[in-house]
Formats: sequence, structure tokens, C-alpha cells
Amino acid sequence: MEGSAPEASVPEIDTSRPHPARMYDYYLGGKNHFAADRETAEKGLATWQSGRLAARENRAFLGRAVRFLAAEAGIRQFLDIGTGLPTTNNVHEVAQSVAPSARVVYADNDPLVLAHARALLSSSPEGRTAYIQADLRDPESILSDPAVREVLDFTEPIALMLVAVLHFVPDEFKPAQILATLTDAMPSGSYLVASHITGEHDPVGPANGARAYRAAGLPAQLRDSDEFARLVFSGLELIPPGTVPVSEWRSVDPGPRPTPAEVSWYGGVARIP
Ligand SMILES: C[S@@+](CC[C@H](N)C(=O)[O-])C[C@H]1O[C@@H](n2cnc3c(N)ncnc32)[C@H](O)[C@@H]1O
Repeated sequence: MEGSAPEASVPEIDTSRPHPARMYDYYLGGKNHFAADRETAEKGLATWQSGRLAARENRAFLGRAVRFLAAEAGIRQFLDIGTGLPTTNNVHEVAQSVAPSARVVYADNDPLVLAHARALLSSSPEGRTAYIQADLRDPESILSDPAVREVLDFTEPIALMLVAVLHFVPDEFKPAQILATLTDAMPSGSYLVASHITGEHDPVGPANGARAYRAAGLPAQLRDSDEFARLVFSGLELIPPGTVPVSEWRSVDPGPRPTPAEVSWYGGVARIP
């Protein structure tokens, strides 16, 4: 980690307990994970053998969604909550490859992501990036954060990114209320991108994965595609092809596609009227 921590206020990083960001990094073949993350991740992968493939498909979905928003919908501002550790195709990299002036605020609740924020913050000279340590379950604190208010112009459309994070917000945290708070704050013409793990096509693997997270003290809840669409996209204008397995969302891959059971992860993009 040497050399990657910002000078000020890095919260203590506890490596003795697993964290979703580090486990996801492990699935994606990154280097920012510890024994506790690997141990819990392997418990899930034992029965969800396509878990790594699913994580890669989700990451590819995120890239295609950002490219669509920047290139086709003309979006220049992004609020990415549940950022994850820096990897390939971070939101600002994809957006700024289309529009160098794109601005991105990243938010995550894992202090390790904060420690790597400098790597995330390398904006193009024309654009801007910022990082805040924040929890999706407290959306007001995100919306009122000075960095969010400084970097994003709330009179212009914003893409709100909730990619692979809502399954860490079980019903007891009132996710519908969280979504309403966030989407109500977005100007008309903004977009919402979201993805979510499901047990719909494989009743064993993802459920076992979620159990491994919960047993390690991490909140986790699967939702089927109807529940996900109702929770996230109600009242919004879904962009074709709608709510589909992440691997199918505007896929350009001509090769054989993974099955819905292998992916077990729904995604979609909607316009906020
Ligand atoms: C599976 S990763 C997804 C990363 C990225 N969005 C992607 O899809 O490639 C989930 C991220 O959400 C973060 N996260 C989980 N619960 C959160 C919460 N309540 N508030 C903010 N971030 C959270 C984790 O720390 C992790 O970085």
C-alpha cells in the first residue's frame, strides 16, 4: 500500500475481517485482498463455481453502461456509489475516453478503497474526479458532501451508479427509501445504472455465496429480477434491453455467451424523468 494513501485521515484498515470490495478484487484477479477475504470468497465459490465469471461479466456491464451514457446519452457527470478497488475500466477512464471533460465522484465505505483513492483520482486534465468515504445506507450524507456538491452540477443530468452494491443493502436498511432519496435529488434527464445478484436461475450457488457473506458478518440479500426491477427502476424509463442478465446488456461479444445461471446477476439502465 506504500505510496498509495492520501496524507490525511485514512481510517484504520482492518485486514482480519473480510470486506466485499476486497473479495470482489479477488474474484477479478486483483492483488488487493487478504487471507480473511480469500477464505470467505472461497466458501462462496465452492458452490458458485461461475462466481468469478459472473464478477467479470458485471464489470464488463459497468463499462458498457458508462460508454453508452457518455457516448449515446451525452452524460458528463457520474456519481458512482460502491466503487470498489481500482481495477480496469474505472468509471472515469471509460467516460473520459469518450468525453475528456467528464466528472466523476466515487463513494465507497471500505477504508481500503479510500487508501487507493489517489490511483482512482487520476482524471484527464479537462475532467475532474473526487472520492468520498461514505455509506450508501446514509444517502443524505452523500448528497450533502462538499466534494459531491463541488464536482457535480445538480442542474445538469448525472448518472447515478449503483453497480453490484444493492445486494449489500438488505430490506432491513429500507433500500427503497435510499433509492427514492437519491433519485429524487437527481435532475431530470439523469440516469440510474444498477446491477444485482440473483438466485433465480441457480438456487444453490449464489444463495450459498450470500450465506458465506452473512456468516462473516457482511449484510447480503439476493433479489430476483422482478424484485430488483421493482425496487430500483419503478417510475423510471428503462433503456432497452431493460432488466436482463448483465452479460446480455448491449453485449457486443459474438462468442458463446454464459448462461443466465452462470451469470446470476441482473443489470439495467434507466432514465430519470
Ligand atoms: C462488488 S463491489 C462493486 C464494485 C463496482 N461497482 C463494480 O460493479 O465493478 C461492491 C462495492 O460496494 C461497496 N459497498 C458495500 N456496501 C456498501 C455500502 N453500504 N456503502 C458504500 N459502499 C458499499 C464495497 O466496499 C465494494 O467496493
